[in-house]
Amino acid sequence: MADVTMDKIVSLCKRRGFIFQSSEIYGGLNGAYDYGPLGVQLKNNIRDFWWKEMTQLHDDIVGLDASILMHPRVWEASGHVSNFTDPMVDCKQCKSRFRADQIDLSAPCPVCGAKDSFTEPRNFNLMFATHIGANADAASTIYLRPETAQGIYVDFKNVVSSSRVKIPFGIAQIGKSFRNEITTKNFIFRSCEFEQMEMQWFCKPGTDEYWFPYWREQRMAFYHKMGIHPEHLRWHQHGPDELAFYAKDAYDIQFLFPMGWQELEGVHSRTDYDLTQHQTFSGKDMSYLDQETNERYIPYVVETSAGLTRNVLMALSDAYDEQELEGGDVRTVLHFHPEIAPITVAVLPLVKKDGIGEYADKLEHKLREDFATFYDQSGAIGRRYRRMDEIGTPYCVTVDYDTLKDDTVTLRFRDSMEQVRVSVSELAARIKQENKAYKRI
Ligand code: GAP
Repeated sequence: MADVTMDKIVSLCKRRGFIFQSSEIYGGLNGAYDYGPLGVQLKNNIRDFWWKEMTQLHDDIVGLDASILMHPRVWEASGHVSNFTDPMVDCKQCKSRFRADQIDLSAPCPVCGAKDSFTEPRNFNLMFATHIGANADAASTIYLRPETAQGIYVDFKNVVSSSRVKIPFGIAQIGKSFRNEITTKNFIFRSCEFEQMEMQWFCKPGTDEYWFPYWREQRMAFYHKMGIHPEHLRWHQHGPDELAFYAKDAYDIQFLFPMGWQELEGVHSRTDYDLTQHQTFSGKDMSYLDQETNERYIPYVVETSAGLTRNVLMALSDAYDEQELEGGDVRTVLHFHPEIAPITVAVLPLVKKDGIGEYADKLEHKLREDFATFYDQSGAIGRRYRRMDEIGTPYCVTVDYDTLKDDTVTLRFRDSMEQVRVSVSELAARIKQENKAYKRI
C-alpha cells in the first residue's frame, strides 16, 4: 500500500476537483472548504449511504431537518454557553494563537521561537455568535449551531406526537455545524464549518446499558460495509478527564488518518441530561408516556455522532493507493466502494470515427438511468483508464469495432484492472451485481 500523506491527498483533491480552499483567490479562509464537482458527489454519496443505513435499514428511526438557527436559550440549556470552551493562549510576540492543551507551554513559541511569550490560558467559547434582526444588541445574539443534536432534542415531543413512534426509537439528522476552532490544520479534518450525521436513540432508563453496546457495534459494522480497511479502525473509550459535560460514557471510533489515529465518530451515552435540561429551561414537559404500562419517564439517549466531512477525508485516505505497474509505470488509484464513488461507470469509445463515438454516446445516455456516468473520448485508452482510476471510478466500458458487429463491450475493473467482454443487453445488470458483490482488496 502506498505511503498516504496529507500533501498527496490535498494535491489530488485540488487537481481533480474534489476539494478547494474557500475563497482561494482572496488568499483563502482558514477552516473553510469548497467541495468541487467530484467532492460534492462523494460527500452526497456518503451522506446517502449513512441515511439509508440509519433510516431505511434500521427499524424505528425517523428523519429530521431542524434549522441551523435556534432560540438562544437552547444553548444555555444544553450547556454550550457555559461549557463549550477550549483553553487558548496567544504568543505575545507574533500573536499566533494555540490551544493550550495541544502545545508545551514551557517551550518556545512553535511559530516565532520566542521564549516565555505565552499569555495565561483563557477559556474560549467555540460557538459562532451573530445577531438576528436589525438590532445588534445582546438581546438579539444567536448562535450558529455547534452540533445538530439539540435540534433533535428540542423537536422530540413534536416527533412523538406526530409520527406514532414508540420507545425505543431514533431520530436521524444530517446537516451543517459550526465551531470557531482555534487550530484548523489537517485539511478538512477540523474545520469551522462542517457537516454532521447524528442519530439520537431514545430508550427507557436502564435499557441504555443494552443499547449503548448495540449502537457501538452497529456503527463499526457500517464502516466495514463501506469498504474501509478494518485495520484502519479502532475504538477509544473516553477517560474521566475526556468525557464531554453531557456524557455518562463515550467511545470514539478512530481512523488511521495520514497524521495518525484520530476521532472519526463518537458514540455517547447521554442519559436524560439533554431532555431534562430543556424541560427545566423551557418549562415544557419533555416526558414520555408508555401507553402499555402507563409509565411516564424522561427517556435516556444513546447518540451516534459522525462527521460527514471527516468521513470524506477518511474515504479519500483509506482509498488512496499508488501501484507500480509492469514496465515501471505508477498508477494513482482511489479504491472507493462503488456505492460512494463519485462516478460509477465511464464509457470510452476506442476511437471517435466509424460510428463508434455515436454508439458509445448512446450507451452512456442509456446507463445514466441507473448509474452516475462519464463519457470520455480524448486521449489514448490507457491514459483514459488512468484518469478514471485516479478519481476512483470502479468500471470503465470500452466500445470498439467488435461492438458494432456483436453488441458486446469491454468491461474493465478498476481494482484488478481485469477486462471481460459483456453483452450490452446484460451490462447494467452485471454492474449492479458487481456492486453488490464488491469486496475491497
Ligand atoms: N453531538 C455530539 C457531538 O457533536 P463531537 O464529538 O463534538 O460530538 C462529533 O462531534 C463528530 O463531529 C466528531 O467525531 C467529528 O467527526 C465531527 N466534528 C466535530 N468537530 C469537527 C470539526 N471542527 N470539523 C470537522 N468535523 C468535526
